[in-house]
Amino acid sequence: MARIIAGVASSHVPAIGAAIDNKQTEEPYWKRVFSGFEKSKEWMANAKPDVAIVVYNDHASAFSVEIVPTFALGCAAEFPPADEGWGPRPVPVVQGHPELAAHIAQSVILDEFDLTIVNKMEVDHGLTVPMNLLFGSPKQWPCPVIPLAVNVVLYPPPTAHRCYMLGKAIRRAVESYPQDLRVVIFGTGGMSHQISGPRAGLINSKFDKAFLDNLTKDPKKLTRIPHLEFMREAGAEGIEMVMWLIMRGALDDDIEEIYRFYTVPASNTAVGHIILENKRGAAKGKKSAAGKKPVAGKHKRAAARANHRNVRRGKR
Ligand code: DHB
Ligand code: FE
Repeated sequence: MARIIAGVASSHVPAIGAAIDNKQTEEPYWKRVFSGFEKSKEWMANAKPDVAIVVYNDHASAFSVEIVPTFALGCAAEFPPADEGWGPRPVPVVQGHPELAAHIAQSVILDEFDLTIVNKMEVDHGLTVPMNLLFGSPKQWPCPVIPLAVNVVLYPPPTAHRCYMLGKAIRRAVESYPQDLRVVIFGTGGMSHQISGPRAGLINSKFDKAFLDNLTKDPKKLTRIPHLEFMREAGAEGIEMVMWLIMRGALDDDIEEIYRFYTVPASNTAVGHIILENKRGAAKGKKSAAGKKPVAGKHKRAAARANHRNVRRGKR
C-alpha cells in the first residue's frame, strides 16, 4: 500500500524563485535564505519519495477571482509553470500522478470532503518555489506531484481545523491505495507576512516560532486559531499557514522533527521551514527501507482492508 513517510513545510516567497532564475543565490542576502535548505535537499535526495502531494495556494494565476475553489486537487498528467507577469518560470513542467490523484479524489470525497477536481491547471510560485527549495533545480523534477490548491486569497478561506481534518482524510486515501508508494506531503506558504495596507511588512517571529513548536508538539492547539488571530498576529497573508495543517494532519500524532529553519526576511516574508517524519520506518531512503521492510503489521492490515474494499468494488 502507499504511505506518507514525511511532511515538509516551506514558505513560497516568489522573490526566492526570481533569485534562482536570475542566478543571485550566491548574493549574501539570498545565501542566508538558501543555506537553510542545503540539509533539506540532502534529506529529500535520500528520502527519494515516489510521489509528492504539494498543498499550496494559487495567487490568481490558475484561478482568477471569478472562480476560486476552496480545495482543488490536480488530477492532470502534467502542470506547466504559470506566467505570473514575467513569462513562465524556467522550471520543468510538473508531472502529475493521475491514478493516485483520482484515488484520493474518490476516497476524500466519499469521506465527505468536497474537493474540486482539476484536469487542467498551471502552477505558480506557490508550488514551484518550494519544489526548488527541496529538490534544487534539476532538468526534470525527480518525482510526480499531486498539487492541492487551497483558497487563502479570497475570504473566507477554510478553517485551520478543516485543513487538519482534510490532512487526515488524505492520509486515509493514500493508505488505501494498493500500490507501494512512498509519499511526501508538502505544506507551503507563510510564515508571517503582510504585503499591502498600513501594516505592510509585518513580521511576528514570536508567533511563527510558537507555530513551529506546536506544529511538532501540539498541532491540535493550532487548529483552534481563528482566522482573525492569524490576520492580527501573522499579517493578512499569514493565513497561508493553514495549509501547513493539512500536511500535519496527514502525519502521525507523534512525529519526529528532523530539521527546522527560520530566517527574516526574504522579500516581505518570514521564511519558515520544517521537516517532520512519521516514526514508523519513515524517510530513511529506499536502500535502508528495502532492507528493513518498513511495512508494519498495522499497515498490512490496512492494506488488506483496502484490497478487500477494492475487490468488493470490482477494482482489482
Ligand atoms: C511575497 C510572499 C508571498 O507569499 C507571496 O505570495 C507574494 C509575495 C513576498 O514576501 O513578497
Ligand atoms: Fe503567497
